[in-house]
Amino acid sequence: MSDIHIDPDRVPKHIAIIMDGNGRWAKKQGNIRLVGHKFGVGSVRKITEAAARIGARYLTLYAFSTENWNRPAAEVEGLMKLLSSTIESELSSLLKNNVRLCVVGDGRLPQTLKDKLQRAVEQTSSNTGLTLTLALSYSGRWEITEAARQIALEVQSGTLDPQNVDSQCLAAHMPMSFLPDPELLIRTSGEYRISNFMIWQTAYSEFYFTDTLWPDFDEEQLLLAIADYQKRERRFGQTSEQISSK
Ligand code: IPE
Ligand code: IPE
Ligand code: MG
Repeated sequence: MSDIHIDPDRVPKHIAIIMDGNGRWAKKQGNIRLVGHKFGVGSVRKITEAAARIGARYLTLYAFSTENWNRPAAEVEGLMKLLSSTIESELSSLLKNNVRLCVVGDGRLPQTLKDKLQRAVEQTSSNTGLTLTLALSYSGRWEITEAARQIALEVQSGTLDPQNVDSQCLAAHMPMSFLPDPELLIRTSGEYRISNFMIWQTAYSEFYFTDTLWPDFDEEQLLLAIADYQKRERRFGQTSEQISSK
């Protein structure tokens, strides 16, 4: 086990991760990109278990962006097949570990995959442990646009007064509104960008970037990220003095 010390009372409730670097990981070993995605599933399993064990309540994983549809057809197809087989093979361990599965995205997925996801979501819906949310065919701009559309519909039908459209109202109409904002956002693979992930909810998240490629990201790496997060002072616009006098 690792000797990285974290304060169990200050574990982020919600950890969001941009799982990046599968393709480069595979290429480094002379393999095709899909091999990296397959090994990436192993990291998903490990990190889900670790996050639950450490005491996080929500883990949100960026698994496929709306922009990822622009990848070569063979990779997209391979990823959809991998998602489908993973949902099947992992369902029993989600149930065993009391994990509630949620999925957020624009729904532009193959019907068979959608059906499998729907069943897994329903079967795990009463689990009370970690909430694992997969962002699938997801983007932050899609999500904000979706909230705007819903609000427009409610205003049009007369159930919402435009005067009441404020930041709380917008947040409540986001497809991810069932989740609290993440305290910690992790991105693997050495890229320093958000790539259209949770752009609304990460307004005050702490960002942690690591060069580690996703298939190599393990519990120790997660603990390092949390330890780094715990060293930070979250000021939310206030001064350091205000925060330390609380
Ligand atoms: C992340 O790994 C997984 C997905 C985006 C589906 P990548 O496939 O982006 O791997 P790199 O960034 O090309 O190495
Ligand atoms: C972001 O990774 C999307 C996911 C991790 C699912 P990408 O590899 O697609 O991001 P960019 O294109 O390098 O910004
Ligand atoms: Mg990438």
